[in-house]
Amino acid sequence: MSRTTVSTLLVMAALGLSGCDADTQSSGVVGSTMQNITKDALPGAELTRRECGSCHFLDKTMRKVGPSLKGIYGQAPRTKGIPVEVWNELTLDAWIENPTGIHPETRMKIPGIKDAEKRASIIEYLKQI
Ligand code: HEC
Repeated sequence: MSRTTVSTLLVMAALGLSGCDADTQSSGVVGSTMQNITKDALPGAELTRRECGSCHFLDKTMRKVGPSLKGIYGQAPRTKGIPVEVWNELTLDAWIENPTGIHPETRMKIPGIKDAEKRASIIEYLKQI
């Protein structure tokens, strides 16, 4: 791959990070082409942007609708009332499968990610950011 191609891909990946949904398809291609180059090439990167990026920042610590997910792995919940001690593989898996099952009053109203492999790759990505 030429140097120009790599830097173009990096720029495209950076754009994808901004959470722009219109980029979803092209960033999927970028993701697979860039494997092993950056964390954004992880299979979970694009999936996490698509499933979580509308409500959560992944690349900065600011709040969107929900708190930033940057650095969340290994931390205690920022939101009061979530009966979880620390965000690890088990608790994140249970949370994104069914947030209201863990905390019925949560404002994270999503049907939940039912596919265990998808959850695993989202969590793999969350560990890296
Ligand atoms: C429709 C918007 C929305 C989507 C989509 C969404 N979330 Fe959330 N999320 C929230 C809100 C709002 C909160 C704050 C919880 C509350 O206020 O009850 C939250 C809270 C969380 C928390 C707890 C953070 C803490 O420590 O307080 C985690 C972890 C989380 N979300 C992960 C995810 C992941 C991973 C995805 C993608 C699979 C996702 N969320 C998709 C809205 C969303």
